[in-house]
Amino acid sequence: MLRGYRASLLWFAAPALGAQGIRYEEDGLLVVGPNAQGAQVVQAIGSWRALSAQHCRLPVEHLPGRIIAPGFVDMHVHFPQTNVIGSPADGLLPWLEHYTFPEEQRFADPDYAAEAATFFVDELLRNGVTTALAFATSHSSSVNALFAQAQARQMRMITGLCLMDRNAPAALLNQSGPDTDAAEHSLIASEALIQRWHGRDRLGYAITPRFAPTSTDAQLRGAGALAARYPDVWIQSHVAENKDEIAWARTLFPQSRSYLATYAEFGLMRQRAVYAHCIHFDDEDRALMRSTGAVAAISPTSNLFLGSGFFDYAGADRVGFGYGLASDVGGGTSFSPFHTMLAAYYVGREGHSKSGLSLTPQHLWWQHTAGAAQALGLGGVVGNLLPGCEADFVVLNPAATPLLARKTGRATSLAELLFALIVLGDDRLVERTVVAQASAAALHLTAQSACV
Ligand code: GUN
Ligand code: ZN
Repeated sequence: MLRGYRASLLWFAAPALGAQGIRYEEDGLLVVGPNAQGAQVVQAIGSWRALSAQHCRLPVEHLPGRIIAPGFVDMHVHFPQTNVIGSPADGLLPWLEHYTFPEEQRFADPDYAAEAATFFVDELLRNGVTTALAFATSHSSSVNALFAQAQARQMRMITGLCLMDRNAPAALLNQSGPDTDAAEHSLIASEALIQRWHGRDRLGYAITPRFAPTSTDAQLRGAGALAARYPDVWIQSHVAENKDEIAWARTLFPQSRSYLATYAEFGLMRQRAVYAHCIHFDDEDRALMRSTGAVAAISPTSNLFLGSGFFDYAGADRVGFGYGLASDVGGGTSFSPFHTMLAAYYVGREGHSKSGLSLTPQHLWWQHTAGAAQALGLGGVVGNLLPGCEADFVVLNPAATPLLARKTGRATSLAELLFALIVLGDDRLVERTVVAQASAAALHLTAQSACV
């Protein structure tokens, strides 16, 4: 069954052009319906004037004054860290020790994990995030809890068992099996989770070494071997976030040219490998990202909150590796993509004095939608509203608050409108989130296009 939505529309009409391919249609029609496999996808998008006659028998929901845009893609977020948001520390390592590791230990309890997973997916959707690459904890029960909640909402979710077999509290280290040590047992558990969840509905698995300092050589080597056996699963980890973390990683893996190179040596850099932060890189690291196809999950609210540093956009663009935006909750301070885009703008301003680069609002939006999807290897699948894309979208109300109404009402260009939304926006802007298989709200038919 096809259905239409009449509203202002925002999408990326020419994926090869990246952010420059952005299109805004003041009075548009979005048509969604099942593809041959039964998935809800975009069937048509364009101006109401051009499309309405062709789709004249379609039930159409009219959303005057609203903007429909692609659902946001969060490239890096921790579902067990919702309660950790806003925990101040001198930097990453004390923050992990004092707040994050104690909280994550609670996820050994399946009931605790299930409640947290329920809140987490609802909060993502409430903020307009329809696809996420998420960390769970080192307990299989936490992975099962998150997949189950995402599946119940037909949401696109990628997660995996957090691999950590040293340098953390015992309750958080992967358990050993009857005849296997912790490293081997964690990889057996990861493979069992791949077979249970990867490719089921809209779910995907990510092999998840937390970061090199909390894994032994044996665990990293095993993770690389597992990745080689499953080329279409994702890999996720952290790298080059904080100076103390880097110094620690260098002492643990002194043979590597750099912290990043450690991952390459264990077979953990390739397409679909996503590294959070990537702040303190040199050009050899950047070239390694490009040549392997690994990508960066830029996490600006986290980097500002933990005092980690500033992602170097000019360096990434000069060498040419992929990236997109991420909340990194709970180092990150917000689930809202608007807060993340604004923080990324501040970070881009910091680099501006050195490089002349200042991020446009179109580029910020792209980094959190089509650009993030492309970095995840999901270009043309999510993060955009071109025909064939899964029909994940948000309905935004640009007049959601008095200040938003006042400011967006005065916008005289697309850049001004998007800047107003990014600077003033939060969850109040997101009136509705629709995921491909099911709509959160009932469809109210308020208009029908006229057949002539
Ligand atoms: N490095 C290793 N673990 C973490 C984590 O949970 N959050 C962040 N921001 N960095 C990390
Ligand atoms: Zn993280």
